[in-house]
Amino acid sequence: MSKIDVLLGLQWGDEGKGKIVDVLTPKYDIIARFQGGPNAGHTLEFDGIKHVLHIIPSGIFHKEKSNLIGNGVLIEPVIFKQEIESLKSKGIDAVTNLLISNKANLILPTHRLTDAANETYKGSSKIGSTLKGIGPAYTDKVARIAMRVGDILNDNYKQVYDKLKASHIRHITSLGFNLNSFQIDGISFEEYEQLWLKSLDFLKKFRIIDSEYWLNDALNSGKKVLAEGAQGAMLDIDFGSYPFVTSSSTITAGVCTGLGVAPSRIGNVFGICKAYCTRVGSGPFPTELFDENGSLLREKGKEYGSTTGRPRRCGWIDLPALKYSCMLNGVTHLVIMKTDVLNDFSQINVCDKYEINKNITDKFPFNISTEDIKPLYSSYQGWKQDIKGINEYSKLPSAMKQYITALEEKMGIKVAVISTSPDRKDTIYKENI
Ligand code: IMP
Repeated sequence: MSKIDVLLGLQWGDEGKGKIVDVLTPKYDIIARFQGGPNAGHTLEFDGIKHVLHIIPSGIFHKEKSNLIGNGVLIEPVIFKQEIESLKSKGIDAVTNLLISNKANLILPTHRLTDAANETYKGSSKIGSTLKGIGPAYTDKVARIAMRVGDILNDNYKQVYDKLKASHIRHITSLGFNLNSFQIDGISFEEYEQLWLKSLDFLKKFRIIDSEYWLNDALNSGKKVLAEGAQGAMLDIDFGSYPFVTSSSTITAGVCTGLGVAPSRIGNVFGICKAYCTRVGSGPFPTELFDENGSLLREKGKEYGSTTGRPRRCGWIDLPALKYSCMLNGVTHLVIMKTDVLNDFSQINVCDKYEINKNITDKFPFNISTEDIKPLYSSYQGWKQDIKGINEYSKLPSAMKQYITALEEKMGIKVAVISTSPDRKDTIYKENI
């Protein structure tokens, strides 16, 4: 009987999970997504080609692996079809090895309009949503009125669709908008709806299964499974910087509900963070930099959203938030990404604690979204050297090793893996994984 390993982001998303899941995939038989939807953008780069996945698990590039979209995930059929077709155009067959839970929920065109209407209505207090319909679709799930993938196999699916659409129109109208107030991906609602309905036929061709049975059977027969998280722990619906969060459980606990596996089944937890911090959209970000260091991080780290293209906000690494994440997720292996982005800095700062109303704390506060938080930093000497191509920890510059050791001591956890470029091969295994 195998355990299920987990890989997830410890910050505000965009930690570089796609690369690590791709590096780890050879060790596993099945890669499973357990939450989120097309708001995610997992970038993988190999053989000189960059691939961005939104809904499909990152194991899709390995022919012999199975990939599962679990019940906790949201599927937007038009985006799903585009993603499959884009992979096909690059010679990747994403049909044979992909399975979909019949309990995964669907994002309707009117969910996307609802997202746009809600955000516009909120004005300056908007969340900065990716506008993929995530919040409204999960709202319907909890309200027990959602449309699930299994529903499209029933003859009455159009009635279910129409009923849900009508409830969205009532909501949109109550905010002072209508079906034509917003376009969806540059086209009108009517045109998009036609595409969406046609995409359901495409979706039906996939293996739509009771994935919780399939996955537990696979674990019982000794198969190795990796659960691939999306977004990051600081965007978790319960523990993130509420209300500036996404609408799903992005932490290890979400693996149990998003795939149907028991807590005792969880094995290793690979927690991914950057050597600094980024955030897209609105919300608190205690270590955000508004100076040339912030711009340097953005330019060197190519910090622009892979789903929306928005420039990401950049700042120093935030240890109170990171320690909170490690605690919530039960991280067994810490993975540090994008260390090469710090190559040009002569000084690197690390936030150890926050000062809030003259009190000093290393805890992530309840009122993170309203408090005035001053980050307290320690400074480390930069290594001022290109580290690309170094693939042994001992050969890294000594200033960089001092920085890594300081993080380990402050967090009370060993760094297991260090990534030194977007390429698969530029990965240092400091600990045995
Ligand atoms: P939503 O998930 O589209 O509703 O967006 C809610 C918040 O989460 C916004 O601030 C988004 O920018 C952020 N967000 C959602 N998905 C991602 C992601 O994959 N990476 C980083 N931020 C994300």
